[in-house]
Amino acid sequence: MRTKLVAGNWKMNGGLAQNKALLEGVMAGVAGFNGMQAAVCVPFPYLAQAQQALAGSKVAWGAQNLSQHDKGAYTGEVAASMLLDFGCRYVIVGHSERRSLYGESDELVAAKYEAAQKAGLTPILCVGETLEEREGNITEQVVGRQLDAVIARSGVASLAKAVVAYEPVWAIGTGKTATPEQAQAVHAFIRGKIASLDKGVADGLVIQYGGSMKASNAAELLSQPDIDGGLIGGASLVVEDFVAICQAAQR
Ligand code: PGA
Repeated sequence: MRTKLVAGNWKMNGGLAQNKALLEGVMAGVAGFNGMQAAVCVPFPYLAQAQQALAGSKVAWGAQNLSQHDKGAYTGEVAASMLLDFGCRYVIVGHSERRSLYGESDELVAAKYEAAQKAGLTPILCVGETLEEREGNITEQVVGRQLDAVIARSGVASLAKAVVAYEPVWAIGTGKTATPEQAQAVHAFIRGKIASLDKGVADGLVIQYGGSMKASNAAELLSQPDIDGGLIGGASLVVEDFVAICQAAQR
């Protein structure tokens, strides 16, 4: 039985005072929830704040990006070991904003995924197609290629210690959510593709949906057989909304 994971992706939002209220609100909100895991992925400067606020609670925390390198002359970069120093469990890799705005290739994403795992972090590997790719009927090709890059580098067994997030680019921050059927179809494709290589790994793999998931549509999305949680952008910045999604993810 897979445990549903609801992770907030704060992106480049927040501030000390605002975060305090959000972290405390989420922590209190999910304290009584069972059979689900909540997490927040915060901007680097606030990892210490998240660690201090959340340590010992039910809420895990993580980062939104990392360097593929261990250390050295890489100005402005952050290494996996640094994230571990602040108690991170998760790190998002290959978010579509990193791929499109910062030119991260499938190969770079695979290198970051490997760096995260080598350090003992759980990568949340984001995959997903653009609207043009969906309309061109190449969604499975694109998602398959994004997965293949990671499998080629780290092997299918590595997915036993990872999370995959299916995030259709056209649904991110647009208010346009994939229908439960559309999302389920791609989730089933992902699980099936991995099952063809290793059924045990596929059965245990948590596959989150991301893209305008909110309190009003979470329950329906999360009731699909292959949707094991959510990666939440906008709605993760509002305590009530994020907690409502976590509530829907309970067993
Ligand atoms: P959204 O973002 O929930 O605001 O659509 C999701 C994401 O980018 O991870």
